[in-house]
Amino acid sequence: MARITAGISTSHIPAVGAALDNGKIGEAYWKPVFAGYEWVKQYEKDSKPDVIVLVYNDHASAFDMKIIPTFAIGCAEEFPIADEGWGPRPVPAVQGHPDLAWHIAQCCILDEFDLTIINEMAVDHGLTVPMSLMFGQVPEWPVKVVPLAVNVVTYPPPSGNRCWLLGEAIARAVASFPEDLNVQIWGTGGMSHQLQGPRAGLINKAWDQAFLDRLTSDPEALRHMPHIEYLREAGSEGIELVMWLIMRGALGTNVRELHRHYHVPASNTAVGHIVLEPTGKDLS
Ligand code: DHB
Ligand code: FE
Repeated sequence: MARITAGISTSHIPAVGAALDNGKIGEAYWKPVFAGYEWVKQYEKDSKPDVIVLVYNDHASAFDMKIIPTFAIGCAEEFPIADEGWGPRPVPAVQGHPDLAWHIAQCCILDEFDLTIINEMAVDHGLTVPMSLMFGQVPEWPVKVVPLAVNVVTYPPPSGNRCWLLGEAIARAVASFPEDLNVQIWGTGGMSHQLQGPRAGLINKAWDQAFLDRLTSDPEALRHMPHIEYLREAGSEGIELVMWLIMRGALGTNVRELHRHYHVPASNTAVGHIVLEPTGKDLS
């Protein structure tokens, strides 16, 4: 049977992708950002996941104001790289896993989560930057990906608790897929960021660190945190962090933290990254 072996979260800052693509990772500004991902790159080499359920948000690349799905699952064979205004990033196209994606869609919809099924979708920095951080610069990605796009751009985004419950439903779906697959679930976006207005550049290190702690120590309260707290404490785009709760919900009650990285500055936001392993037994 398929099984979820790890949950990984990371910021998906577009400038991090640009730094990689333009050979700047050795520069003093970027070195400490990338150093924090060496651990996970080795972890991925050792653990060899087959498929990533990759929770991210589209930034008006595949979707626009004409259609705004709250939760959209990518069921295609392949996902091309989006052109975000300066040409597509020079990274390989992302290979899907249609059988697992359709299985998750079917299970979740019958489990009362009405996912939007997407058969054609370009993927933007929200998905490709985390791929680059985990796997580096490679001619082909070493895993297949089931993209799960969440609306956190246009009000109203889903609640943290709804995200958590979707994570649980995804875990049930994966556990009932008959093929023997090593599946990871990633949540991307965050941490503190406010990209516009008088509070632009807001960084709240104490709040971000507490969020990282609470993924392990206090997830029950974290999943019920209202949107307004994300906005007030972590900035308007800090709401991207609700996507981490889909990852966290899929891991069950108890998890072990294997690695974390937190760094400021990197572009306009705080870089946050965590690797969690489910410790088992309580997924229902
Ligand atoms: C930045 C971060 C994001 O998550 C994003 O989608 C766009 C910009 C930034 O830090 O600049
Ligand atoms: Fe973003």
